[in-house]
Amino acid sequence: MVQTVRGMRVLLPDEARRWQHVEATVRGVLARYAYEEVRLPLIEFTELFSRGVGEATDIIEKEMYAFRDRDGDSIALRPEGTAGCVRALNEAGLLYNQTQRVWYEGPMFRYERPQRGRYRQFSQIGAEAFGFAGPDVDAELILIARDCWRALGVEGLTTLELNTLGSRESRLSYRAALVEYLTPFEAELDEDSRRRLGTNPLRILDSKEASTQDILADAPRLPDYVDAEARAHFDALQQLLDAAGVPYVLNAGLVRGLDYYTHTVFEWTTPHIGSQAAICAGGRYDGLVETLGGRPTPAAGFGLGIDRAVLLHEHANVDWSRPNTHVYVCVQDVRLSAYAQSVAAAVRDALPECGVRVHMGGGKLKNQFKRADASGASWAVIIGEQEAETGRVALKALRDASVGQLDLNVEQLVERLREE
Ligand code: HAM
Repeated sequence: MVQTVRGMRVLLPDEARRWQHVEATVRGVLARYAYEEVRLPLIEFTELFSRGVGEATDIIEKEMYAFRDRDGDSIALRPEGTAGCVRALNEAGLLYNQTQRVWYEGPMFRYERPQRGRYRQFSQIGAEAFGFAGPDVDAELILIARDCWRALGVEGLTTLELNTLGSRESRLSYRAALVEYLTPFEAELDEDSRRRLGTNPLRILDSKEASTQDILADAPRLPDYVDAEARAHFDALQQLLDAAGVPYVLNAGLVRGLDYYTHTVFEWTTPHIGSQAAICAGGRYDGLVETLGGRPTPAAGFGLGIDRAVLLHEHANVDWSRPNTHVYVCVQDVRLSAYAQSVAAAVRDALPECGVRVHMGGGKLKNQFKRADASGASWAVIIGEQEAETGRVALKALRDASVGQLDLNVEQLVERLREE
């Protein structure tokens, strides 16, 4: 058999059911904040990402699924959603002189080393807000994520980490100071950090190597380079979060792996799903619209990793209702199929929340009950010769032995199921 491509995701029914719940919960929160959905392509010109995300980032250097299409154009599977969202809204003229609050959902692709919580195909729900320069929208985005954790029952298992990168200018002067400090230690840095010294020195702060972290202990600190205006923005954000009762941890080493950020950056992490701890990350990216060819537009957003949110939801072991096949219709004889279908249709029409699966392929009633049980249904509706003739059904509880078999007409069946 041909196998699944490494790192690509398959969701079987049990997992997909939990995914639906997590996705519907996040979508529900976004709807409460009146964010509107946009649907975006999975494929873009490679240039969009090299310009948007940054040439010297891991995503562009090592992780892109980029190839030439039949016209010879260099295109890529999207590694993230923000650049494509900016492109799409700008192309439609929806960014200049207006505000937008949108969300999108779907698979992203990065050629990373797969492990628990890290896949080559993964899903994000992203939210992006355009045209708002103040810290209030930064706070709103953080609150949206907090509400998602709350609605999923995992709020207590998450931590919000917060930092500011300051303006583009303050970031550049910090970068210069960091390079000046690290250059004498060049030979002692780990290999990745040595390479980044020339390309993307801020990422060295993210290094997991203890020896590099030792060298960094006395390095210049980013917060000391943040200018007064950026500092005021960041202070105001913290006041908003305090007022909303959202706890956070300031992490001066949080720089993010994508180049477009300015000012606020944040990450929601959890220690409960293994080494891939970030379940939602984002920040402000005031320069990106212009970098991609639009007019200067302030912007901020986040990407919430659904794969990891699902792992956390699983870990939390919270009670959640599983929309499951609720009713399984057993048909004593294939000649009674039409009647069985009409009963199923009546239940589906009257009770849209109730899943109804009709047995197919005939066979003994005993075997049909086994199928009904395996399907997870809580009720079996049994259709025999006599029921079909009299317009009735037999209803049998599959999970509750205290309920005897009931003889009902279709209306009574609907009413009995409605009570559940
Ligand atoms: P990011 O930090 O690269 O940011 O990804 C956001 C989230 O996607 C991560 O926190 C994580 O939960 C999930 N994620 C990333 N890579 C993987 C992977 N290989 N496997 C599973 N989950 C993963 C962005 O993508 C930005 N576009 C976020 C943003 C939106 N910033 C502003 N607006």
